[in-house]
Amino acid sequence: MTENSDEEVVSESQIAVHWREEEYYPPPPAFVAQANANDPAILDRFAEDKFPDCFTEYADLLDWDRRWDTVLDTSQAPFWRWFTGGRLNACFNCVDRHAAADPDKTAIIWVPELEEDETLYISYGDLLRRVNEFAALLQDFAGLKTGDRVTLHMPMVPELPITMLACARLGIIHSQVFGGFSGNACGTRIADSGSRVLITMDGYYRAGSITDHKVKADEALAEAARLDQEVDKVLVWRRQPGQYASATPMADGRDFFVDDLIGKYAGQEVEPVSMDATAPLFLMYTSGTTGRPKGAQHSTGGYLSYVAGTSKVYQDIHPNDVYWCMADIGWITGHSYIVYGPLALGTSTVIYEGVPNYPDGGRPWRIAQKLGVNIFHTSPTAIRMLRKVGPDEPAKYDYQFKNMTTVGEPIEPEVWRWYYSSVGKGQAAITDTWWLTETGGFLGSTVPALQPMKPGSCGPGALGIFPVIYDENRNEIPAGSGRAGNICIRNPWPGIMQTVWGQPERFLDVYYRKYNADPDSKDWHDWPFLCGDGAVRSEDGYIRILGRIDDVINVAGHRLGTKELESAALTVPEVAEAAAVPVIDDIRGRMVEMYVSLKPGVVPDGMEAKVTTAIETEIGKIARPKNVWIVPDMPKTRSGKIMRRVIASVSNFADVGDVTTLANPEIVEGIRQHVQKAKVDKGDTPRPLTDTELAEIQSFGNE
Ligand code: PRX
Repeated sequence: MTENSDEEVVSESQIAVHWREEEYYPPPPAFVAQANANDPAILDRFAEDKFPDCFTEYADLLDWDRRWDTVLDTSQAPFWRWFTGGRLNACFNCVDRHAAADPDKTAIIWVPELEEDETLYISYGDLLRRVNEFAALLQDFAGLKTGDRVTLHMPMVPELPITMLACARLGIIHSQVFGGFSGNACGTRIADSGSRVLITMDGYYRAGSITDHKVKADEALAEAARLDQEVDKVLVWRRQPGQYASATPMADGRDFFVDDLIGKYAGQEVEPVSMDATAPLFLMYTSGTTGRPKGAQHSTGGYLSYVAGTSKVYQDIHPNDVYWCMADIGWITGHSYIVYGPLALGTSTVIYEGVPNYPDGGRPWRIAQKLGVNIFHTSPTAIRMLRKVGPDEPAKYDYQFKNMTTVGEPIEPEVWRWYYSSVGKGQAAITDTWWLTETGGFLGSTVPALQPMKPGSCGPGALGIFPVIYDENRNEIPAGSGRAGNICIRNPWPGIMQTVWGQPERFLDVYYRKYNADPDSKDWHDWPFLCGDGAVRSEDGYIRILGRIDDVINVAGHRLGTKELESAALTVPEVAEAAAVPVIDDIRGRMVEMYVSLKPGVVPDGMEAKVTTAIETEIGKIARPKNVWIVPDMPKTRSGKIMRRVIASVSNFADVGDVTTLANPEIVEGIRQHVQKAKVDKGDTPRPLTDTELAEIQSFGNE
């Protein structure tokens, strides 16, 4: 597996891991009694011999204009086609049918960040009206039609799901870029998706102050133009209609305020377009090993069925629940489990504008108390942060969760226990959900009423998902062996991405090439899907996810590609070489540290700040490095490859291992002393790493 013959390396996934088996926690009886999936017969209905027809149980949660002919069409393997022949509209399923049944039922509860600002309740009837009006505007004013792509760069406001659903109503493929990404990052995605329209917002509240968001639209358009993509129109929602929160001018004839235009479409209705089940619903860009972000293309029928089904089974959403997923809609979690899944089930979904600890660590629990939230979904990073800033806050508030889910990163058992006993007050089920942008919905999790929880493990494969752990040679690593490997899913499932937008070869390469033995096979058994995570399976079938096996750094549950970070640093003209490595962080899981070497003759003063700014400009503040280290040279193999594992070890105070085979072993000690002394001086010394953390650091970048 190693590219360079002069280096003896093992991949992270091959390193045996050791940890204590955690005890089981049974689901609370009160939860079990009311759960959607509390009859073990469901496990049989989704057994492997029922595949793929088992998934009609999820598809039957939707209203179809035309029922499908074939559940799974493998004729273009591995470009799976689910529910072919079927026709439906995603917006109709998320809005119209619930509005028809009960127009006054609350669809969206929007909580602005400022506590004194009023909470907004949007009923299904109101949502239908607003979606219709905006769809009319998209069609008439923006000239958009079925199959067009449109880029959204919006914060956590109700106008975001309204925009998404209006697109879905017309079969327009939306591509929402996380609001915290920079203008440049948005521009790259505009160009890749071929969008001629950008939909954005003037500003939004974050940590107590309003940010100028519109400025990013101008940067995005400049970047898109550089990549030969012209954008005709920028539609700007205003957070407060009539009041512009940005200092950035509106470009005449290009930029338009939505609230100026929408009046013309008041009361208009737009027929939902009956879409083929296999038509794309949206793109969601994600990072991988190589530079350019990949647009994961998700389907209409398969995706919506999968998120509706998993929202029902795993999040236990009933129509009368108040459900709060404290993620950002700009990530896949928000698409699947704030917007499409919960609304398909006709529940009330909470959207919170701001950061969880604004103005203090009690905020989420006050929101839960006020709104009567009974299902809560968040990430280990948020849990760690809330535990740190307010370990005793949950007890002060009168709320009661029945189910609490987590997503995005492995959760440490100790953090899990705080979540369970303090946030959940020992009365809620905890559902750890493991999955990826590419997979549309959950891959590994416990069915909360039927399978006990085990801290730190996500659980077995989700219903109808059959995981396998392979070594580098496609030998299956048996459950209970204590050995880690590359986790794959043996079968396709309805939520799986259809392809990488515009790059089908990359879809094959990244997810299938490694373990597919016969590229001509039309049999799904020949196409294990490579998830990109290292994992271990215990005897009971529960999976423990160890983290990415590619060069991706998971910061606060968000994937950042090392190549993207390094390319951003290289936009600084004085930088000769750059390498990004992870450092273990007790709150965010991992943070990024950059190592850069400068071109000859460059004065290093101020270069750290320049590199940081470049990363914020190219990617966004989320990628801001914890430290930038200027080094005279990078440790390299004789074939010239930067040894990221050596500098990662330095950053994490881990043993750098054997460096004698490097081309320049003599520089390592100097770098180690410089970096570690600076860290000690700053009081930034890490706790001792666990076995799995050590394995990750000491093998980082090996592949
Ligand atoms: O490494 C896994 C980690 O997040 C990666 C996927 O990131 P992204 O595509 O941004 O999607 C995040 C939300 C679905 C995975 O490859 N990951 C996700 N969930 C878990 C997890 N690691 C451990 N436990 C989880 N529950």
